[in-house]
Amino acid sequence: MRLLLKNGVIVTAEETFNGDLLIEEGLISRVGGKIQSEADRVIDLKGKYVMPGGVDVHTHFNLDVGTAVAADDFYTGSVAAAAGGTTTIVDHMGFGPRGCSLHHQLDKYMEDAGRDAVIDYGFHGVIQHINDGILDEMRSMVEDGVSSFKGYMTYDYKLQDHEMKAVMERLGSLGAITTVHAETHEEIHELRARYVAEGKTQPIYHAKSRPVKTEVEAIERMIEISRKAGDAPLYVVHLSSGDGLDTIRRARKAGRNIYAETCPQYLFLDESRYMEEDGNGLKYVMSPPLRERGNNERLWKGIADGTIQTVATDHCPFDLKLKKEMGEKDFTRCPNGAPGVEARIALMYSEGVEKGRIGINRFVDVVSTAPAKLFGLYPGKGSISVGADADLMVIDSEREVTISHKNLHENVDYTPYEGMKVKGYPVMTISRGEVIVEEGVFTGQRGRGRFLKRKPVFKQIKGG
Ligand code: URP
Ligand code: ZN
Ligand code: ZN
Repeated sequence: MRLLLKNGVIVTAEETFNGDLLIEEGLISRVGGKIQSEADRVIDLKGKYVMPGGVDVHTHFNLDVGTAVAADDFYTGSVAAAAGGTTTIVDHMGFGPRGCSLHHQLDKYMEDAGRDAVIDYGFHGVIQHINDGILDEMRSMVEDGVSSFKGYMTYDYKLQDHEMKAVMERLGSLGAITTVHAETHEEIHELRARYVAEGKTQPIYHAKSRPVKTEVEAIERMIEISRKAGDAPLYVVHLSSGDGLDTIRRARKAGRNIYAETCPQYLFLDESRYMEEDGNGLKYVMSPPLRERGNNERLWKGIADGTIQTVATDHCPFDLKLKKEMGEKDFTRCPNGAPGVEARIALMYSEGVEKGRIGINRFVDVVSTAPAKLFGLYPGKGSISVGADADLMVIDSEREVTISHKNLHENVDYTPYEGMKVKGYPVMTISRGEVIVEEGVFTGQRGRGRFLKRKPVFKQIKGG
């Protein structure tokens, strides 16, 4: 199968140029210039942007939090991702039964995604407890293609600092990366209990019980743990605050091995959303919470200056009806998380590139290339180069769209971005040379996605 893309504007994380692209057997075989070649299909892109497909390294398809299961499974979630220009996801595996092995969850997720995913996928390991068996099992998980693991500092499955250190040492010795949900448990636990006891149970108290300082302190602790673990690589997921960003910026200037991800919700929304009436404030119950306005622009600066490397979604959708509404009388009962996998690219292009906050090459870097590099997928993913997978998105920079959950493919009854007007929208998505979305219509097959065995990309740290 040969596909020829004519007259596009090719944009990578490094450069922008006019030219054609030839795809053979799912791989990019020629880039740039005028290509004259026999092809099964020729598509004239007439000045539209051709970019590496989006790489979203933070999703929670099928996540079971005990009281609710995320509304998107690997089929609906990956169709939505593809419709929004994303061609690769790295999903956080959910929690297994107490005490289960790391492979227990991997086996389950391989089955679910193998059956349903329509784009290529990898998994982050999730650590719910540690002991010698779990630490030893990390080697075979890495060999099986899971080269990153998330540890939580809060929730029931939080790790103590000495456990985080053991995890970082072990993963560091394997060249794998530790990712962290950075919020300090003790203060949050106390504040939540106090607000509930005082009858302060509205959604705004979700935010007030998780103040910025809990994120900052957690990041500071993790930076110190990483240092003690021989400078093992550390990736802070869903960074939400300007002060957290400043902490990371200082650490990077001091030479620490630390990377950061933020998400559209922390760039576009603020804590006033929790005051929306008729239970709508529950839509935004996620952790960390939305912050005061002002944090948004500080995070944008962090993207522009390179302190933040990636923008992922933390897509974790629960219907407002019956699911998020469990928090109607008490925010602590609301399942945490919000959707976003489909709107990420359009929001970042429109608010980032179109509004001049970042350049177009930086945009490609944060939504595709940098996440592919950090998580062991590059150059197969996240690049436009000969031999790379032909995973591409086409953006029409003139297309104006008003975002509404009614037009999205996500299987959830709201979007936090309802009514936002964007200029520039993905109009075609190509996965391994197959056009799987055209003008918002998905044309691929369920289960066509492939598991990506991700390589560990960091220098191995001795003594772990
Ligand atoms: O509230 C959120 N973010 N839920 C998803 C799980 C997580 O912590 O990433
Ligand atoms: Zn988290
Ligand atoms: Zn998450």
